[in-house]
This record gives sequence, C-alpha cells and structure tokens, in this order.
Amino acid sequence: MKVLATLSTLVALGSCQGITKVGDFTGGPTNLGMYVYVPKTLKTPAPIIVGVHHCQGSAQGYSTETHYQPLADTHGFILIYPNSKSGGGCFDVASEATLKHNGGGDSQTIANMVKYAIDKYGGDPERVFTTGTSSGAMMTNVLVGAYPDVFKAGSVYSGVPDGCFAVPGSTATQDPPGWNNQCANGQSTKTAAQWGDLTRSYFPDYTGPRPRMQIWHGTADGTLRYPNCEFPLTQPPIIIDQEQMKQWSNVLNLTTSKDTPNTPQSGYTQTIYGEGDATTAQLVGYSANGVGHSVPVHEDVDLKFFGIA
Ligand SMILES: *[C@@H]1O[C@H](CO)[C@@H](O)[C@H](O)[C@H]1NC(C)=O
Repeated sequence: MKVLATLSTLVALGSCQGITKVGDFTGGPTNLGMYVYVPKTLKTPAPIIVGVHHCQGSAQGYSTETHYQPLADTHGFILIYPNSKSGGGCFDVASEATLKHNGGGDSQTIANMVKYAIDKYGGDPERVFTTGTSSGAMMTNVLVGAYPDVFKAGSVYSGVPDGCFAVPGSTATQDPPGWNNQCANGQSTKTAAQWGDLTRSYFPDYTGPRPRMQIWHGTADGTLRYPNCEFPLTQPPIIIDQEQMKQWSNVLNLTTSKDTPNTPQSGYTQTIYGEGDATTAQLVGYSANGVGHSVPVHEDVDLKFFGIA
C-alpha cells in the first residue's frame, strides 16, 4: 500500500507539469473539454494562446506534439487546449451554429473558455491568440471570423478558409461533425470579396478591428484536398492556401503583397500583405514547398507574430 501511494504521488506530481482538465468549466454551449497550462509565473495580465488539435487528436496529444509549454514558462502566458467532443476527434467547423457569432456551436464554447481564463487566471483580453492544425486550423479561421472581438491574431497550420467547410443542415451536436468534400478537395473557389462577405456575414454587426492572420500550408498536402488519400495530385492544396489568403486580404483590406523565398527556412516562401514585416504585418502567408499534411508548427515564429516574444 505504501509503495502504491508513493507511486501515485509521483504520477500526480508528473502530471502537474502537463496540462490540466478544468473540471468546473461548464461554459458550453457544446460539450468540449477545457484543458489548460497555467505556468507558475504569469505576466500580469497574461497573454492567452488557444491551441486547437487535429482530427484523431486530443488536447493532451496536441499539447505534447507542439512545444508551447516551455515557452509559456519563459514568457508567462496561458495555454488553453480545447478537446473535441467527437469520437473521431474533429471539431465542428461545418454547422451554421459554429460559423456564426454566438451561434451555439464549438466556436462559442472555445470563446467561452477564453472568457473563463481571463476571469480565473488573470488573462489579458487584449492579447488573446489562437492557433491549430488541420481541423484545428479550420477552427482557427472560424474563431477569428466569428469572434474578432475576442481574438487579436491567429496562426493556421494546414486549414481551409472560414466558411469553406460549411455543410447546410449539419448540426452543432452531430457526431461526426459535417465534412465538406468539395472544400477539402480544393474545389471551393470564390473571389476575395465573396470570401470576405462570408466572414463578415457571420458577425454582421461587428465594425471593430479584425485579427491579424498568419497562414501556413504545404504544397504537397494530401489530406485537405483528397480525404481518400489519392496521392499525389497537383494543384488543390495551393488553391486552398490561396483561397485563405484571398479571404483575409479582403477582410483586412490589403491589396499589395511581397514574396520572400526561403523564409523562415529553406523551401518556405513568405508572403507579407500590406505594410510591415513578419512580426507586424496584418497578414503573412507561408507556403511550404513539398511539405504535406500538416505543416510542422513553428512556435517561435507564432510567438513573434503574436508579439509575445
Ligand atoms: C481600404 O484601404 C484603402 C487604402 O488602401 C482605403 O482608402 C479604404 O478606405 C479602405 N477601406 C475600408 C473599408 O477600410
């Protein structure tokens, strides 16, 4: 018995260094799990980064696949990891409920997690950021689109435009959530103004500033073009990437862009829209040549873009 007790104490101590489930988060409206990492030493008030996992992933998994935790210790920010309510681990980025501001879907639940962290941990409402991979990248676009009043910037790893995954008639509670093949296949193209109108339609009364955006996509992405893995194919991932850039350049009202090859590393092309550099611009794209699904997370670049490091 004694040995067992000691062992379980050790396990408990070990888990303190990882993420913790917030038992009393009942913010709904959907039943996502809220996991957090709150370092011992926080900035006052503390920036918040929401990290949204991919399909077949989890809050726990994404918290270790990405390497934000040591950076949270260094820079004193709070991490929130939402956990999907779906058996397949995807987030709902397809229902009208999730696409609309306060529409009653997963995006609203995540926005409520941010409010919880501001209240309970001393989070800074002026420095709230979101990032994610694949399904989490789609959700990042959805969060930024529907909650420009909550998020100041987003960093998207291998996603699709806000609203691209819409499935008419799909609901916020169905499992699995809606899946839009046409969008995943890179066959949903619109003009920049049409994409921008879509985003604006999800929160039509909003007139304030729009979040800054950073978009990462691999040119050899084999998932967000053909979910059935008919690989290799040619253009679609680039199209998905370009559709996102069109959308946010319209929303952010940016008309000029400048490419820099081999930035931040060999094979990546950086595109800065409008004024500023990689840390100050409103919109930055990274096209990763030959990289598949999904683009590795660049935590250091994200933190600089968010103005945290
Ligand atoms: C968009 O930017 C241009 C300048 O580049 C400006 O003249 C115009 O008023 C802006 N439009 C909106 C809707 O902010």
